[in-house]
Amino acid sequence: MDYFYKKALELDAEDTLGNFRDRFVNDADLVYLDGNSLGKLPRKTIDLTSSLVKEEWGGGLIRSWNEKWMELPRRIASKISGIIGAREDEVFVGDSTTVNLYKLAFASLAAQQGRTRIISDELNFPADLYIIQGLVKHQFRDHSLELLQSSDGITISEEGLGDMLDENTALLALSHVAFKSSFMYNMEDVNRTAQDKGVMVIWDLSHAAGAVTVELNRTNAGMAVGCTYKYLNGGPGAPAFLYVRKDLQERLVNPVTSWFGHSRPFDFELDFDPVLSVRKFAAGTPAILSMAAVEPGLDLVLEAGISRIRAKSVRQSEFLIELVNEILSCHDFRLASPVDSRQRGSHVSLQHREAYRISRAMIEPADNSRIVIPDFRPPDNIRLGISPLYNSFADIHYSVSRIARIMESREYERFGIDKSGVP
Ligand SMILES: Cc1ncc(COP(=O)(O)O)c(C=O)c1O
Repeated sequence: MDYFYKKALELDAEDTLGNFRDRFVNDADLVYLDGNSLGKLPRKTIDLTSSLVKEEWGGGLIRSWNEKWMELPRRIASKISGIIGAREDEVFVGDSTTVNLYKLAFASLAAQQGRTRIISDELNFPADLYIIQGLVKHQFRDHSLELLQSSDGITISEEGLGDMLDENTALLALSHVAFKSSFMYNMEDVNRTAQDKGVMVIWDLSHAAGAVTVELNRTNAGMAVGCTYKYLNGGPGAPAFLYVRKDLQERLVNPVTSWFGHSRPFDFELDFDPVLSVRKFAAGTPAILSMAAVEPGLDLVLEAGISRIRAKSVRQSEFLIELVNEILSCHDFRLASPVDSRQRGSHVSLQHREAYRISRAMIEPADNSRIVIPDFRPPDNIRLGISPLYNSFADIHYSVSRIARIMESREYERFGIDKSGVP
């Protein structure tokens, strides 16, 4: 038996999270390494959503608002707060990450009168930059967005970031874990540096929540946003969350003055009077069907515990990198993620000039090989997402061996270079 396969089996045998795998819908013919884009379906979500639709909506109709649904957003927010190290009265769940970022970025710029610089980095998720570009173009016209450059395309120098902040900087908007390279900031250090200079910080936790240890309160984070459809397994387009530290809540205004953010929404008063809680960041009626579907995934993460999830993710990423170095180095792959696990989230990126066609071959094998689903990020990245709740060490071994076979057989040459659909 191949040494690494044997090692994978040993690591799986020792794994205390291995039994979580069966709590998800699995396909024996497929290895899924894309939980950092869309997490798997927890089995419990199937029954829960079908009874929600049939009984609560179909049978209960509008009565279900009082009986079940009004309390749902608060219960979900409270569970999310336990995963990101926040107090439950600091988290709101609803809307998308994009919309939540818009609300908080607007609120920060309005609160930081006189400061006109906004800083982010070139590894940030482009949609986050689009939101800020829109704010600068349409609402805060004397402001500017500046991007800190990466010297290697993988990491950002925190020292360089500190040098960039000054007394004219209003806002720093960063991803805790970068979507492509998986680079992870030291949140505590960045928060301290920013706070010393009076700069507000919004963290995007989309690639962090449910995968790495996030301690918003302990690290004195001011604001954060994030999605629930990646490592939290909440389902496609599931409601996002936002976090605002308690002492900032009064100072920050939601630009979307919605009735669900009103202190007495069902009094139908003509004038807006914001509620004095994090609920003031609501932008309208909660999306009950998709919000309810988030809960089973959160329960699984809470049951497993972030520290165990993170420990397994680090061990699995190290195993993956070891395999890449051993099996793939002769095929011109380059590790495009930080080597040091303290600077890395839960996915590992590989760079190769044929990355697109190699990922196609992984997804559409020519023979009866198992399908491996990674994702491709242009121009030349294959992202391998590790979700410790359902990925085994054997999955990782299989995936890297499969890439090696694709390279040896040149199977990727079956595909053209035209890109279409969701990559
Ligand atoms: C880091 C990050 N931020 C923001 C978004 C945008 O999220 P949404 O489209 O749900 O608003 C994504 C989407 O994948 C993301 O990965």
